[in-house]
Amino acid sequence: MWFACDCRRPWEVTVKAMISVQAAHCSNASGRFAPFPSSHSRCWHQGQREMPAEASESWNSASQVYAPFEAFTGQFTRAAAAEIPSLLSDSASSGPLRIMDVASGTGASTFALCKTLADHCRQKSPKALVVATDFSEAMLKTLTEKFTASSADPEVMASQAAEKEGFLELATQVADAQDLSAFADGTFDAINCSFGIMFPKSPEKVAREFWRLLKPGGVAVVTTWHYNNMPAEILVDLAHVFKGRGRFDQLPLATATEKFGSEAFMRRLFRGDLEDGSDASGSPGSPLWRSRDLQAKFIAGSSYCLPRHMAAMMNKTPLASDLGHWDEDAVEKHLQDHWTGEDGRIVLQGTALVLFARKPIS
Ligand SMILES: C[S@@+](CC[C@H](N)C(=O)[O-])C[C@H]1O[C@@H](n2cnc3c(N)ncnc32)[C@H](O)[C@@H]1O
Repeated sequence: MWFACDCRRPWEVTVKAMISVQAAHCSNASGRFAPFPSSHSRCWHQGQREMPAEASESWNSASQVYAPFEAFTGQFTRAAAAEIPSLLSDSASSGPLRIMDVASGTGASTFALCKTLADHCRQKSPKALVVATDFSEAMLKTLTEKFTASSADPEVMASQAAEKEGFLELATQVADAQDLSAFADGTFDAINCSFGIMFPKSPEKVAREFWRLLKPGGVAVVTTWHYNNMPAEILVDLAHVFKGRGRFDQLPLATATEKFGSEAFMRRLFRGDLEDGSDASGSPGSPLWRSRDLQAKFIAGSSYCLPRHMAAMMNKTPLASDLGHWDEDAVEKHLQDHWTGEDGRIVLQGTALVLFARKPIS
């Protein structure tokens, strides 16, 4: 219940909350995590703005089928996370590192981050405090289950080991990326956001929240699709075949993904140039990053994905919901017939754009 207690000292209060909830409910192996649930949603309704329920509900349902897609996105997320320690060296203070993973989903990005930070902390810094935030409670619940259960995933295992050794604390918080007001200004050494910024209604608000939350010298690392055949080819192909020729030439998802995959668009977003010049109160919006504080990097990769996983995703993920209901058997058959190689698997290829936005020291 740390929101209700003291919104401006999240770390301290999180630890207290974790301990007290653990005593009341937790029966998992490490007993570290507050079980989700009600405490978080109650907090939202007591003290915070209401969450956009519809959108988070569809992501809740996507959490059940997200794992195979994570296998694809993980390669990009891992590469982006690996950059963070070297970016921290200037900004890190003498205390623990504070890092937020925004729109963390079921943890592919979070555990990649935790592993890389643990390696860093073993050598340089006393400890990393990582908070994973997402507006989907179910996504965070899965993340917690991964962290508290025995696991064969090397990143989860490394995170668990780092926690035991005292190099890492991992907390979660249900929060809309557009309103992270539960966290104090200038709290974070780094903010990571992988494949998340394209979904909130106002990415401008998300960029402003990142600016507010970062310490001077801190850095936001924001990963989007630069090019990805999942929406742009497979979805278009499926829509074309199953939903009627010509109706889906401009898929909302593909269009949105392309926009956020443009370096120029991302730079404008983080400079505050996409805003209309005033904030919600009507006063002129303050500037955000300067061009020289922004750097982009592109990462290409590929991985396998089974047709049945893709088929299961069609009716679960909001990524495909604008296309209506799918016949999963038909989708699987089509993908099997048209997209699989000799080994019976689909190769997903893609390129991610990673934007590094460092907040100037002065
Ligand atoms: C494609 S997943 C990315 C998850 C993870 N970062 C990764 O790399 O695997 C997008 C995530 O964004 C979350 N999300 C969408 N809109 C959001 C919002 N307005 N605030 C917070 N999270 C949001 C969804 O719940 C989902 O977990």
